Amino acid sequence: MAKRISVALAVALLAALTIQPVAAQPAKARATASVDLNARLNEVQAEPKLAETLFKTGRKVAAVCANCHGEGGNSVKPDIPNLAGQNPAYLLEQLRQFADGRRRNEFMEGMIKAMSSDEKVGMVLFYAAQEVVHKPAANPALVAKGQEYFNKTCFRCHGSDGRGNAQIARLAGQQAGYLQLTLERYRAGGGVRADSVMSANARLMSDADIHAVVAFVSAMQ
Ligand code: HEC
Ligand code: HEC
Repeated sequence: MAKRISVALAVALLAALTIQPVAAQPAKARATASVDLNARLNEVQAEPKLAETLFKTGRKVAAVCANCHGEGGNSVKPDIPNLAGQNPAYLLEQLRQFADGRRRNEFMEGMIKAMSSDEKVGMVLFYAAQEVVHKPAANPALVAKGQEYFNKTCFRCHGSDGRGNAQIARLAGQQAGYLQLTLERYRAGGGVRADSVMSANARLMSDADIHAVVAFVSAMQ
């Protein structure tokens, strides 16, 4: 079952790329929604052969995602996040948030409904293993300001190297436009993306703080 990308996923991509709402998915795709993805990830990681199989599934899935998220998950579009080097449990949590409406993005909601649970786990294994392409800083003075801010609060959860941990997002090397948009959304606390922890952090930030932190974080290795 895990050998081919599901037809549903291909249909969802077509719908996404032609900018049309994704139609209701077949019952089979919906039935996988109740699978505990974290438990499945742990199970897969404990079995090297299964992990290898799902990694290959993930690589195929990623060919679909590459239209927006770039080759190997290194996005070239400022507003679309890298998935390369991103942490497995964090990625699975975001899939859940898109699926249950806590996080809103029409394209992503359609994509996720179309993926089987093993396609999701395989995708996460694949992206977590990809290297992030480093983008050197353009403005060293701004970066220094951002570093100062980051080292006061953000490092506590995201790590001093910006790589987070299994549960917490990697920020290092993330796309600048996406980081800025996301911090502004947390700060606004609207329905597109909200998180009580990050909203509390973002509300303390001025526009200038966000600008500086984004410059620093997006240039981290
Ligand atoms: C049509 C473009 C498009 C395609 C195709 C696409 N995505 Fe996305 N994806 C986005 C955008 C835009 C966002 C950012 C949403 C937001 O504004 O928060 C995103 C966000 C995500 C996130 C959250 C990342 C984070 O750092 O929180 C994950 C995970 C993700 N996509 C996985 C996938 C997977 C897996 C596929 C392929 C099956 C895929 N995407 C295909 C546009 C796309
Ligand atoms: C107390 C822990 C904590 C602190 C401190 C913290 N974060 Fe976060 N951060 C999180 C968690 C948890 C998430 C995931 C939230 C979600 O699911 O939307 C997150 C998510 C993010 C994201 C979204 C990542 C993505 O790929 O979409 C960004 C950007 C971010 N944090 C930036 C920052 C910055 C900048 C700071 C410092 C000003 C900071 N965080 C401080 C816990 C923290």
